[in-house]
Amino acid sequence: MDSLSVEHLVGIEDLTKNDIELIFKTADAFKEVINRPIKKVPSLRDITIANLFFENSTRTRLSFELAEKRMSADIVNLSAASSSVKKGETLIDTVNNILSMKVDMVVMRHPNPGAAKFLSERVNAKVINAGDGTHEHPTQALLDAYSIRERLGSVEGKKVVIVGDIIHSRVALSNIYCLQKLGAEVMICGPTTLIPKYIHELGVKVQYNLQKALEWCDVANMLRIQLERQEIKYFPSLREYSMQYGLTKEIMDNLQKEIIVMHPGPINRGVEMTSDVADSKQAIILNQVENGVAVRMAVIYLLASKIKRQ
Ligand code: CP
Repeated sequence: MDSLSVEHLVGIEDLTKNDIELIFKTADAFKEVINRPIKKVPSLRDITIANLFFENSTRTRLSFELAEKRMSADIVNLSAASSSVKKGETLIDTVNNILSMKVDMVVMRHPNPGAAKFLSERVNAKVINAGDGTHEHPTQALLDAYSIRERLGSVEGKKVVIVGDIIHSRVALSNIYCLQKLGAEVMICGPTTLIPKYIHELGVKVQYNLQKALEWCDVANMLRIQLERQEIKYFPSLREYSMQYGLTKEIMDNLQKEIIVMHPGPINRGVEMTSDVADSKQAIILNQVENGVAVRMAVIYLLASKIKRQ
């Protein structure tokens, strides 16, 4: 059986193109499974997974949980609000206590960049990063690229613009790595204050004008403005931001071509895009969510196949 070159999924940066293609091929098979009347397979009957969410989540948490249940894994869930982390316990102590209960894999979302890597180097379990602060969100990038491949036939040679709050976005960094590994061209678009100074080192194009970026691209991935990570004001007001960078039906209709619109969710309707764009046939936002389950099933399955039983 083909296998991943990594022992954990900490970031897309660590994956090879072959790894990503293997995940997609495996996800194709799982997508067929989740569209059957009986959506469950026994693949992970002997695996126990802990989902540790130290930061809020709707899509990623539910998607991982469903992916695990569809493969018959035993699961335990912990969120920071209800855990002893609030009493001052360290991350390693929390996780080691959970692992003493014979857990094989940890899916973790954490506010600190590097938390997943830190954990993967210290615990005897497979670790999947479900988002570590402003660093990486690897399964989001995989499901985004998988959704582009599904809609356009391939990712190679496609032009993808990522619009908005790049500086605070783990989705942007993981998408840049993933799309480039698959042979896409990537452009970043947003106000100067939301684009990091090191961005050119990542080999992406930069465009500050949304209209020009849209004329260039095949796919526009509109990122959420992450007010919760902004300690200072990066633009005068949300209204001003949406006037400069919000995608409207009028802009879409005036383009000389059809582009695909993506968003990782949650959407601020009326800020990143208007409701009629979010609900249009060019938007594949709910396809992204659907594909997230199949892609996460593939990642979990491929990492679980590397667990050595004593
Ligand atoms: N896209 C994403 O990570 O959404 P959640 O924060 O709801 O998990």
